[in-house]
Formats: sequence, C-alpha cells, structure tokens
Amino acid sequence: MSNFVYVLNGPNLNLLGKRQPEIYGHETLADVERDCGALGDELGLRVRFLQSNWEGQIIDWIHEAREEASGIVINPGAFTHTSVAILDALNAFEGTVIEVHISNVHRRESFRHHSYISLRADGIIVGCGTLGYQLGLRRIAAMAP
Ligand code: DQA
Repeated sequence: MSNFVYVLNGPNLNLLGKRQPEIYGHETLADVERDCGALGDELGLRVRFLQSNWEGQIIDWIHEAREEASGIVINPGAFTHTSVAILDALNAFEGTVIEVHISNVHRRESFRHHSYISLRADGIIVGCGTLGYQLGLRRIAAMAP
C-alpha cells in the first residue's frame, strides 16, 4: 500500500487568508500546505498538496491519484455542490476519500447543504477551520493497514 496522499483544493482556495477571512480565517493555503507537509512527515505520509480553479484539472489529479495514492483529502470548494464529474472521478478511486470544508456549510446558504462529494467520501470534516485538513490526514494514516 502506497503512503502517498493527495490533498486537493478547488476553486478560490488560492485566495485563502484573503477572501472572506470572517468565514475562512486568516491562514493562507501556503500555511495549510506547510502544516500538512509537517504532519505528513510525522505520520509517515508523502503529501502532494495541489490547488486548481479548473474542474478538469482536479479530475486529472484524481486519475493520477488512482495510480499512486492510498488516500485523497479533498476540499472541492464550490464544485462540492455542482460537480457530478468530480464525484465520478472519485468513484473510480479505490483508496480512502476524506471531504473537508473549512466553514460549517450547514450553517450557511441552503445551496451549500448538498454535496455530491459526500456520496463517495468515507469521512467528512466540516467547520473545523483549516485544522480539518490535518484531521483528514490523521484519519487516512489511521486507516492504513
Ligand atoms: C468550502 C465551502 C464551499 O461552499 C465554498 O464554495 C468554498 C469553500 C469550505 O471550505 O468551507 O469555496 O468548501
């Protein structure tokens, strides 16, 4: 079993720390990447941390992960609520999938309450801030045989 984990981020998450900090906090995506890398070292996971504003790019990375990774931590951003295509790609991935949302989507607009990704996710972490990514990595490490 590979110790490779993909951490995938969807649209607008490149603006983390700058956009709506009252909702998403002040940490940047670079901070989150650094913390995930450090935790990966501690847990014996190799972390590939990626972000794209393009749905097709995220799908291509999920296909890549099929060949290489035992787990995916994914915050698909707004694609969570719209993308059957990302759901289909994740359904073709055999490892563990953890869905992360920085904010508590259930306390927000009703269009954020439905997630296509949750139909595939093995675990869902919502409203724990950027710590959610680390919780996702810990879950994947705990599930490794
Ligand atoms: C988000 C929640 C989504 O509804 C939103 O579109 C995002 C970020 C979160 O991390 O809380 O871009 O996934």
